[in-house]
Amino acid sequence: MTIDRLDLAGKLYQPGVYPAVARVASGKRSESPLVVDLDPTTFCDLACPECISGKLLNQGRFTPERLVALAGELVEMGVRAVILIGGGEPLAHRGTRRVVTVLGEAGIAIGVVTNGTMIDRNLDELAAHASWVRVSVDAATSETYRSVRPDRKGGSAFDRVIANMRAFARVRTGALGYSFLVVARRAADGTVESNHHEVFEAARLARDIGCDYFEVKALFDEGHHIIGLGDEMRDSVARQIEKAQSLIEVVNSSTMDSVQRDDGPVQPKAYHRCGVTELRTLVTPSGVYVCPYHRGNPAARLGDAVTETLPEIWRRSDRGIVDPSRDCTFHCARHGSNLELHEIAAGRGRPVHDDDQDLFL
Ligand SMILES: C[S@@+](CC[C@H](N)C(=O)[O-])C[C@H]1O[C@@H](n2cnc3c(N)ncnc32)[C@H](O)[C@@H]1O
Ligand code: SF4
Repeated sequence: MTIDRLDLAGKLYQPGVYPAVARVASGKRSESPLVVDLDPTTFCDLACPECISGKLLNQGRFTPERLVALAGELVEMGVRAVILIGGGEPLAHRGTRRVVTVLGEAGIAIGVVTNGTMIDRNLDELAAHASWVRVSVDAATSETYRSVRPDRKGGSAFDRVIANMRAFARVRTGALGYSFLVVARRAADGTVESNHHEVFEAARLARDIGCDYFEVKALFDEGHHIIGLGDEMRDSVARQIEKAQSLIEVVNSSTMDSVQRDDGPVQPKAYHRCGVTELRTLVTPSGVYVCPYHRGNPAARLGDAVTETLPEIWRRSDRGIVDPSRDCTFHCARHGSNLELHEIAAGRGRPVHDDDQDLFL
């Protein structure tokens, strides 16, 4: 049986992770995280006006020496999958290539979320070791790209990004994704600026590049609450997605599903402890945090990976500092995983799969 990329709860039932999952479901602490999101740097060469990490950008990075030591600690801890991401552009750090090689040679699955401007500098390592690279493009034309993903001087790196994706598509061994965040903003003159009309064209470009999938995502505000699109834009996006499905695999993020269902910004949670924080964690130059939704939140900080090793931080930190019923009222992509952990605890879990397929829980 194949597990869907976005079936995060189903991924808990893989034999390589299930023993740790069952332990966490029973209320125990994990011995180490299974999946780590790692921000090598907070630097970014782009200046996207809606960037969720806008206030956290350009505030430092791991030294190349500490970054490679961190990769060794992830191997030592038995982490199964690492996502290189930001707060920042992960491929902007010159030490990222080495991290990819160390993790890849140790058999750790690697995913990369990137703006794509620097794939060329990391091409060989990514081609050899990345299970997937997802490029955040959000446009089908250079002009729209300039509006949603301008560089720091207001220019458009669109042509460079697309050329990098084409070059990578030719040599990669893993999957290549094209992600499209649907942006709508009110300009100073009261008109609405949006990229929503380019969803179908972007999907066509993704297929032309040789991408394996096209992911459509919804915009969050600073508190990670989903911003609705309004009926007209929402319907237009839905129609374009439907048309695009005949061209390429279209992945609707959980947030876009919520927008299509008109769920509203809040996802209430009745539980007080997040089991997922025992299974996944976020490592950044400003601290280790329980999860990416709490990046930069001092109340969700587990330690300082600049001055402490990850095994030390994991041994002494309390992942229970976050209470989802109070601290996570936005739509969390892993709410379903937490509910599944409760099912396992109640003896209503599902059968364990025969093999490991996708360790990006
Ligand atoms: C913050 S970026 C950092 C990694 C890399 N620099 C990039 O551009 O992909 C990580 C992801 O967050 C998404 N993102 C940024 N701002 C967002 C927002 N306000 N709401 C939802 N997603 C957002 C981007 O589309 C991107 O895929
Ligand atoms: S947002 Fe809250 S519930 Fe979701 S993974 Fe993070 S800590 Fe857990």
